[in-house]
Amino acid sequence: MPLVLLVDPDARFRASARSALSALDAVDLDETGSLDDAAASAAATRPDVVVLGPSLPYPSCLAFAERVAAAGSPARVVIVQSAVTLDSVREAMRRGVHDVVPLDGSWSEVVAAVRDAAAAAPHPEEPGRPAPQRAAVFTVFSTKGGVGKSVIACNLGVSLATMGLKTVLVDLDLMFGDTAIMLDLKPERTVFDAAQSFDRLDAELLRAYLTCHQASGLQVLLAPVRPEDAEVVTASRVGTLLDMLAMSAEAVVIDTAAAFDDVVLAAVDRSDEVLAIATLDVASIKNTRVSLQKLAQIGYGEGLASLVLNRADSKVWLDIGEVEKSLPAPVVARIPSDRLVPRSVNRGAPVVLDAPRSAVAKALGELASHVASRVKARS
Ligand SMILES: Nc1ncnc2c1ncn2[C@@H]1O[C@H](COP(=O)(O)OP(=O)(O)OP(=O)(O)O)[C@@H](O)[C@H]1O
Ligand SMILES: [Mg+2]
Repeated sequence: MPLVLLVDPDARFRASARSALSALDAVDLDETGSLDDAAASAAATRPDVVVLGPSLPYPSCLAFAERVAAAGSPARVVIVQSAVTLDSVREAMRRGVHDVVPLDGSWSEVVAAVRDAAAAAPHPEEPGRPAPQRAAVFTVFSTKGGVGKSVIACNLGVSLATMGLKTVLVDLDLMFGDTAIMLDLKPERTVFDAAQSFDRLDAELLRAYLTCHQASGLQVLLAPVRPEDAEVVTASRVGTLLDMLAMSAEAVVIDTAAAFDDVVLAAVDRSDEVLAIATLDVASIKNTRVSLQKLAQIGYGEGLASLVLNRADSKVWLDIGEVEKSLPAPVVARIPSDRLVPRSVNRGAPVVLDAPRSAVAKALGELASHVASRVKARS
């Protein structure tokens, strides 16, 4: 039976809508008071129809409809407004809304629109609408600091963009992100601004928060400038932002903080591949093994994670073969240690562009080719 989700902060509207829609005997009804909760429900219970009531701001309703579609949800959105103009309907249709109806005394238009949306929603057993093409998503991950996550994420993003792939780099090290420094970008707009305008965010506005790395064409969603601003960027908002970015790119590369928190899990959740970075010291290897086991324990399937060994040629008295055998994921790249890396960080020019013939740039290029082959396998 189709599920209809009623959304409005006004409980009286929800109660009246429930009683009007009970005329449709072949639907289940659910309700919530806010768009944030509705977004969470749209992901969890996958309603067939979402009815947005007249107390919600109209621009937020349009942005919600776009986000629901970007997240791949099949839900049809019906907006109920106290007054409806032809222009507002046109704009809504353009943004993927199923219908916009006025709230009349008899509720007849609302009931008809919901009946129509429920009938149009694909049934689970049917193939449904073809899913829009979504970017391949790669999370650069390590719960240990200083292992080279940001260096690898920046060089990977730049390499993919240089190969002609439409690529977005997202700096999710929300308190101490340094991709702006590594790529010499001015953080005029960051993920903090995107999270702050969350309620009216649509694909176009989100694009305006990206910063372009001119030398490669890579688009970057930078980390907040002040650590205290990280608070606004909640894990649920990060999830939605990543879903939206994935709809407008071919590859998304995510740099993360040295943590195992909700924000990192929001990224892992959406990843086609988690690139776990380890260096050749016992603490880093133990850390990598434990965090990969933890990911497996909480349900992330085998095959999601692969390993990148950084500073892999260091004279460290560890047998690299033994190290690889002891870790529960395949090794996809070995990046040598090179003084060119800190030099390039200090210059704000990624080493793949700054010293493209060096061994370290070639190893990073091979990692990018591995990732690019996964991107192309999707299309
Ligand atoms: N292959 C390498 N050769 C030489 N130096 C390297 C290499 N990889 C990283 N570094 C250096 O190690 C330092 C830490 O790198 P990076 O900032 O990328 O680590 P991180 O894992 O992102 O750290 P954090 O968790 O603190 O964000 C940098 O100064 C960088 O120059
Ligand atoms: Mg970092």
